[in-house]
Amino acid sequence: MGSMQQTLEQSADLLLETHGLCKSYGSVAVLQQISIQIHSGEIIGLIGENGAGKSTLLKCLCGITRPSKGDFSFAGHNYQGISVTRARNLGIVCIPQEFNLINELQVCENIFLGRELHTALGLLDRKAMRTKTQQLLEELGTDIPAQRAVKDLSVADKQLVEIAKALSQSCRLLIMDEPTTVLNDAEVENLFQIMKRMQQNGTAILYVSHKLREIKKICNRVLILRDGLLVCDSPAAKWTERDMAERMVGRALNQVFPEKCQQTSDADAILSLDKICSGDVIRDVTLTLRRGEILGLAGLPGSGRTELAECLYGIRKISSGKLIFAGKVRHFSHPGQAVSAGIACLSEDRQGSGILTPFSVRANITLVSLASYCHPLIDQRQEKRTAGKYISAFQIRTPSTETLLQELSGGNQQKVAIAKGLDSNPSLFIFDEPTRGIDIKAKSEVYSFIRDLLDKGIACILISSDLEEIIGLCNRVAVMREGHLAGFLQDENITEKQIMYLATGV
Ligand SMILES: Nc1ncnc2c1ncn2[C@@H]1O[C@H](COP(=O)(O)OP(=O)(O)OP(=O)(O)O)[C@@H](O)[C@H]1O
Ligand SMILES: [Mg+2]
Repeated sequence: MGSMQQTLEQSADLLLETHGLCKSYGSVAVLQQISIQIHSGEIIGLIGENGAGKSTLLKCLCGITRPSKGDFSFAGHNYQGISVTRARNLGIVCIPQEFNLINELQVCENIFLGRELHTALGLLDRKAMRTKTQQLLEELGTDIPAQRAVKDLSVADKQLVEIAKALSQSCRLLIMDEPTTVLNDAEVENLFQIMKRMQQNGTAILYVSHKLREIKKICNRVLILRDGLLVCDSPAAKWTERDMAERMVGRALNQVFPEKCQQTSDADAILSLDKICSGDVIRDVTLTLRRGEILGLAGLPGSGRTELAECLYGIRKISSGKLIFAGKVRHFSHPGQAVSAGIACLSEDRQGSGILTPFSVRANITLVSLASYCHPLIDQRQEKRTAGKYISAFQIRTPSTETLLQELSGGNQQKVAIAKGLDSNPSLFIFDEPTRGIDIKAKSEVYSFIRDLLDKGIACILISSDLEEIIGLCNRVAVMREGHLAGFLQDENITEKQIMYLATGV
């Protein structure tokens, strides 16, 4: 592997070279003296903790931001900073961390936005755009209809559309900022096949992910950023996942998952569902959840996990069946009612409904719990104290409680979203993909936080596409298939194999 790596490096052409790139926001240096080289046909992993500067480096390369100092050369030409259009014309294509799609438009309209195909007569060639879109999506192993409006897609499907959009352009350097956080294993596998094909055709790929197993699997070389500095540049084969994680955080790491708590079979039931249905999306779901218990909700994407959570949180209408929460039969018709009853929900789509990026960290954390800060005027000092508490508990990287959320890195925004849910003091917390996009150290912080919630008697429902997470945290797992419960697994029966067996039925 090592020698193959060397030959690859020697024979391939140098495509991109950065020379001492720096980026500062005000007095904060986010990137310091970054000098890297990328050759055609290389897949390079870029890793680092939340806020290390990964997205910022990518943004400098694809023209979204301008470096404060330094320059880079691409295919032999020197640039101090380029525009997005220029980058695209050069063949630098980016799949951004936060989606860049227009919700009201169809999938194919989004994919060809600004680069529409025309007929010989100069008219829009809708048919060609539809066909091409369908083809791209098929290659990614999905059957999303080309004419579906983006707003009607799940988060995973939006991600696939964003990937298809990138792949529809001719590209010499593909930049991917955490493209797989919401994808399932099969979708990731398809994506990797496509990446390998592109690599064989000479495309270079710069790949950011917190999933170190993926980095090891697909990348030739790994770059590690720590606090804006490049601390490592070496062949991927050389490192174990643990090595990479330790280099990232700069110290030895403890175990990621906390001890599981003892099953409390005599605790009160906090939630009972009796034959809940919602149209034909959720069918006859019956289950009970006790205080202090964490129930995993597993299943393939589209199996109804998120939809079931939406029923509990008052976003989706329950068409028949009974929901009993904290001893009372409930009919939540909007999330406000669920929140006042004591349910918190961390939605998988943090951009869509989780948080308000133009507002401060403080305002976001107290968004749902604001009533408890009004005496009767809003007590900002109390709000700031609370925000400060979460900032240090989760080590949220922000200059202050008053910083706008849009200035935080993706993973740090996710931590704020969790803090927001916790501050509403819930008796049931629904986590939908809680560790999406957060680094390994922050993950273990979130896990021990979930563990603390359980010790306090709060019940949790965990929806995650990361089976390791479900297996590592849950006492009991409900597996969904096509809108109904395919079965429950308990304790040592919670294995990847059993979950997949119930999820697919084969
Ligand atoms: N527009 C901005 N204004 C001020 N600071 C910013 C801005 N954009 C990013 N930052 C800061 O730059 C630092 C690096 O952010 P960046 O998004 O590059 O991190 P990242 O490595 O991609 O992290 P993550 O894994 O969480 O996505 C963070 O501390 C962030 O708060
Ligand atoms: Mg980022």
